[in-house]
Amino acid sequence: MPIIVHEDKHLFEIQTARTSYVFGVNEKGILQHLYWGETIAAHDCAHRLRSRSHSSFDAEVERECEEFSFWGGVGYSEPSLKAQFSDQVRDLKMVFEGYRIEKDKGLECLILILKDAFYNLKVHLYYRIIPELDLIERYAEAVNTGEDDIVLESFQSAAWTMPYMLQSRMTHVAGSWAGEYQLRETVLSEGKKIIESRRGFTGPHANPWFAMDDGSAAESVGEVWFGALGWSGNWKIVAEKTIFEHVRVTGGIHDFDSQWMLRSGESFVTPVFVGGYSSSGFGGMSRTLHRYQREYILPTEAKRKVLYNSWEATTFDVHAGEQIELAKKAAKMGVERFVVDDGWFGKRNSDRAGLGDWDVNPDKFPSGLDALIREVNDLGMDFGIWVEPESVNPDSELYRNHPDWVYHFPTRTGTQLRNQLVLNLAMPEVKQYIIDFMTRLLSSHPIAFIKWDMNRTITEPGLQGFPQEQQREIWIRHVQSLYDIWAELRAKFPNVEFETCAGGGARIDFGMLRFADQAWPSDNTDAFDRLRIQEGFTYVYSPQIMMCWVTDSPNGMNGRKLPLSFRFHSAMTGALGIGGNLREWADSEIGEAAVHITSYKEIRHLVQVGKQYRLSSLRHSKLAAVQYVNDDHTDSVVFVFLHAQQFGRHSQLKLQGLAGGMVYDVEGLSKETVQLHGSTLMKAGIPLNMRGDFDSVMIRIKAREGTHE
Ligand code: DGJ
Repeated sequence: MPIIVHEDKHLFEIQTARTSYVFGVNEKGILQHLYWGETIAAHDCAHRLRSRSHSSFDAEVERECEEFSFWGGVGYSEPSLKAQFSDQVRDLKMVFEGYRIEKDKGLECLILILKDAFYNLKVHLYYRIIPELDLIERYAEAVNTGEDDIVLESFQSAAWTMPYMLQSRMTHVAGSWAGEYQLRETVLSEGKKIIESRRGFTGPHANPWFAMDDGSAAESVGEVWFGALGWSGNWKIVAEKTIFEHVRVTGGIHDFDSQWMLRSGESFVTPVFVGGYSSSGFGGMSRTLHRYQREYILPTEAKRKVLYNSWEATTFDVHAGEQIELAKKAAKMGVERFVVDDGWFGKRNSDRAGLGDWDVNPDKFPSGLDALIREVNDLGMDFGIWVEPESVNPDSELYRNHPDWVYHFPTRTGTQLRNQLVLNLAMPEVKQYIIDFMTRLLSSHPIAFIKWDMNRTITEPGLQGFPQEQQREIWIRHVQSLYDIWAELRAKFPNVEFETCAGGGARIDFGMLRFADQAWPSDNTDAFDRLRIQEGFTYVYSPQIMMCWVTDSPNGMNGRKLPLSFRFHSAMTGALGIGGNLREWADSEIGEAAVHITSYKEIRHLVQVGKQYRLSSLRHSKLAAVQYVNDDHTDSVVFVFLHAQQFGRHSQLKLQGLAGGMVYDVEGLSKETVQLHGSTLMKAGIPLNMRGDFDSVMIRIKAREGTHE
């Protein structure tokens, strides 16, 4: 039973395999957080459950660590809920009414019920528990039980109070297009550190995830508290440290330019903000989050196929003949899925026209799309296609027929980004248009895979079709409608797999991943830059969903020349794809690629569903190294990348996750297979014979039959 209620002490205790999460209702009725971390005797916290006044300026200090901050009275910390009633009163006095424990999605769930002392507003706080992963999924629901409207001005998913630490260091990711998922650290001082998106989608500049430690945690050691929000629109995570040294992280849908009308009888449910604890550093945190995605978030269990995508080879110049040429080369290499990217529809010869007109371009496919699909299938591959349903080029039939279908303010000219505007997904007819054309596309062609792109932010957020008091619902309605569309398509076409892409990795989060099987982390396909992007990505997201393409050298973005083996090894640390212009590849390169693809198929179960250990980072070293191990420690693969050798020196690398007493066959270190004990591999490490610039190696480690721990 992971939920224990100590009624006599007014304490709630959530137990997971290795943690305690404790809070109580104090004498003023405030839900006061008391502890979160490694397992303790929770009832010992009872003596700390009390209201504390410091001065008339800080009358209820415990409100700095309230389980959920209702804005009203003397509560001044980051609000979890701020509301306005129909008589213009903007003050909440939420009184604890009771609790219930029930199963939610098969998991034990504690639900706290609070009610305003005067108004007809109820709030339910949910704590859904995943004991074996030490995770708690938190979300909240507001219910209008009266006759009058209530305006929700800010409604966050959860507030996580951190335990006391000598210093609080926050880790997060920052980035930009082509440079997503860069790891950053900041030590908090009094005030707030905010990471956010106000651009209408998750965004490349930050990602809704945080980790907190006392400055001493590292990849494989130390205590780390962390959380990740499942929302694909405007979001905000606020880490706040007070003068009384309380540190709290509040997160949810961004309250900027946002409000929600809660009409009589209606309720609003926030997205889930999952929180967890790891006592084995950032690596432990990531392995927990990877397993969480696989077991609780992703829609399917299927392993990722090796795909080919023609975007970098042909851009908008998509013609059946060249696509078939590419497909033949891809099939020869062992590719399993062939994907035609942008440019196959309407008058889409550049990014200036055609977006919105989803009919196959007859000039580009004179025998129809199915002729290409048949060729691809005959070559032994399945077929995928690119779409960007939320956007429209003004130069398109769709826009000419429906200029009012985009978000806009009547007195403003809509800003065009990549020559496109954003469709108003909140309008029922627009939503239906997207469902209809996608249904047509998927039911009239044998398509196995959809890459769903979104290449701009939202501007001029006028929500046509909605009354004045609901205009600021746009940010939420866009995402709700997007989720509805994906849910409907996935239900209608259960065998079609989906990728989330937004000009690279700008819409990857636990909200979108409930619908998407895989994700495109970045348009930057330089295998060296990718190592940093992929490292940050795997802090939160599983290598299983991380699509990585092998592209041409020199790289189109930065001109860097890299050996084919380096490009493959970098891409093999996630879900492998090929994105180069194969028509230009020499036969020897196609041959070498085939060998790498064969190796990948032999190790992909480790990369995609094994445990990942990041052994070395380019942030601190000239070596990047990452290892994957199966659950019973018998099978492992390591990829090592050298940036630049200096002074003729060689490096050593210590492995992880093996069984000390087992003897392993180690392939890849030298020409011969060597036998080494797990203890030797992990404690003494292995010598690396890597040389020059941009060297890389794949090392395969397999337990010898008959050896054991
Ligand atoms: C942006 C994506 O990230 C690319 O992979 C490609 O699909 C282009 N859009 C197509 O316009």
